[in-house]
Amino acid sequence: MIGPVADYTEGNKWQIHIGDRPVALFKYDDTFYALKNGCLHQGFPLADGNVKSYMVECPLHGWVYDMRNGKCLSLGDRFTKTYELRIKGNILEIDMG
Ligand code: FES
Repeated sequence: MIGPVADYTEGNKWQIHIGDRPVALFKYDDTFYALKNGCLHQGFPLADGNVKSYMVECPLHGWVYDMRNGKCLSLGDRFTKTYELRIKGNILEIDMG
């Protein structure tokens, strides 16, 4: 469980922890997306990235990800881990697999 959806109305990126695992939470077009919070390059936290529509740019060296599916647009054929989200009642839930 992440928490009440109402806690995530302002902004479009958050770093959260599920147990001891850091997760980058994003919102685009009123939909939430969750990615592993580490760039495929050198592990920089993507929750600190620059967000433009559905794209997240790692601020360290500029690799860009599609938050909708975790695809690294800079590499073209690699994906970072994503987590399934659902909203039950007004609570945002995550499936850590
Ligand atoms: S650590 Fe993200 S682009 Fe280098």
